[in-house]
Amino acid sequence: MAIFSPQTVKAIRSRFWYVAEDSGGRSRIFFDNAAGSLVLKRAHAVIEQYARLSSYGGGYFPDASVVDHLMERARQSVATLLNAPSPASIFTGESATAVLKRLAEAILPSLPDGSTLIVSATDHNANIDPWRRMAEQLASKRFDVKQVTFSPTTGTADLDHLESLLDEHVGLVAVSHASNVLGAENPIVEIRHLLDQKAPEALLIVDGVHFIPHGPADVQALGVDAYVFSSYKIFAQRGTCFAYASDRVLRLPHYRLTPAPDAPPESWEWGFRNPADLAPIAEVVQYLAWLGQRCFPSASTEDRRDLQQCVRRGQTAIRQYEHELVRAMLDGVGHTPGLLAIDGITVYGAQHPTTIHLKEPTFSFNIKGLPSDNVEKILWDQYRIAVRAGDHYARETLNHLGITDCVRASLAHYNTIEEVEKFLMAVQQIARHEHRRR
Ligand SMILES: Cc1ncc(COP(=O)(O)O)c(C=O)c1O
Repeated sequence: MAIFSPQTVKAIRSRFWYVAEDSGGRSRIFFDNAAGSLVLKRAHAVIEQYARLSSYGGGYFPDASVVDHLMERARQSVATLLNAPSPASIFTGESATAVLKRLAEAILPSLPDGSTLIVSATDHNANIDPWRRMAEQLASKRFDVKQVTFSPTTGTADLDHLESLLDEHVGLVAVSHASNVLGAENPIVEIRHLLDQKAPEALLIVDGVHFIPHGPADVQALGVDAYVFSSYKIFAQRGTCFAYASDRVLRLPHYRLTPAPDAPPESWEWGFRNPADLAPIAEVVQYLAWLGQRCFPSASTEDRRDLQQCVRRGQTAIRQYEHELVRAMLDGVGHTPGLLAIDGITVYGAQHPTTIHLKEPTFSFNIKGLPSDNVEKILWDQYRIAVRAGDHYARETLNHLGITDCVRASLAHYNTIEEVEKFLMAVQQIARHEHRRR
């Protein structure tokens, strides 16, 4: 039985802004979630509510303590979301790009000279460039930066290749939880396991930006030293990033103003944050819990009271539902063929039946003979389907695929099988038309 009943799909969609129509009232299908998800109405409501506050935290008067409370609640919510050992292991920043750079600035000076740094070809440049650039800046430390490749069929980091790069000199592995182009989930637990065996001192830094709206991430089970994600990919707004960091990372010397608190996590904050930026993540967590309760109504009363259990169930439900979307996109809906069966289309990564359960509903492809930006325009102008063309800031992934750009259709759990069918029909027509024209 489908994990989301039609009523649940309706209830989910009613909780987001601009699901079926854009801000100008145009009917559309939104398949650009990897660039930024839709926004929960509750998340938007609290942004409006707290944007009125002018004060910042740390003061004696009531509005200042509201801000302190919002920060505490945000850290607690993220700790719940990621199963972090404590809210004190969570800090914030303006974007994943900024926070990963901040981590590189703190981590690399602490590593022994001559350490090997491993980055991943599955990654957005946000988790490659800071390590490479800092390594160049610290030239006297003679870091050796290597890159692990990925399997073109599964889209996941190549563990044999990774293993061949590992030895006791490896100081760090930076890898995404899921590629924002290939939509494939990297086996973080296995990577941690390999590190424990062959490079036990190595830090494992994970970019969770693409993965986080699609399923449960448990930083303790994954054994990561840092896990970073941005609010705007998980149903809230732009301008805020949350990071979990292990004690080992949090205690590293790092930039802070002299009068700022010297203990983590406060010492990792750069200035006070806008209170309106802190509030939405708690609404996201509540939403996931609501979804968990709705999809698993038979859970025991005790379990239903446990926020984290409910959140996990919500994320599990999302994952199950999104696998239905993945199958529909790849295998087709009714008589409408899936992406894999349409002539003239190359789909990148994650086509392998044995790893399909590690696939997020993110599909990158090209249509033979048509530049990707043309496909993006046709899909919008003729079919009102929003997708994105380009390199998706994952140049190294595209280099490995031997391409410079591709079309990316990225779905989330508020998308539907009917939307997938319309999308597939549109892509089929575009590919056929292009084939006839040639
Ligand atoms: C996988 C991945 N990592 C990092 C980023 C950068 O995130 P931010 O915009 O918060 O810097 C993105 C943005 O698209 C992404 O998809």
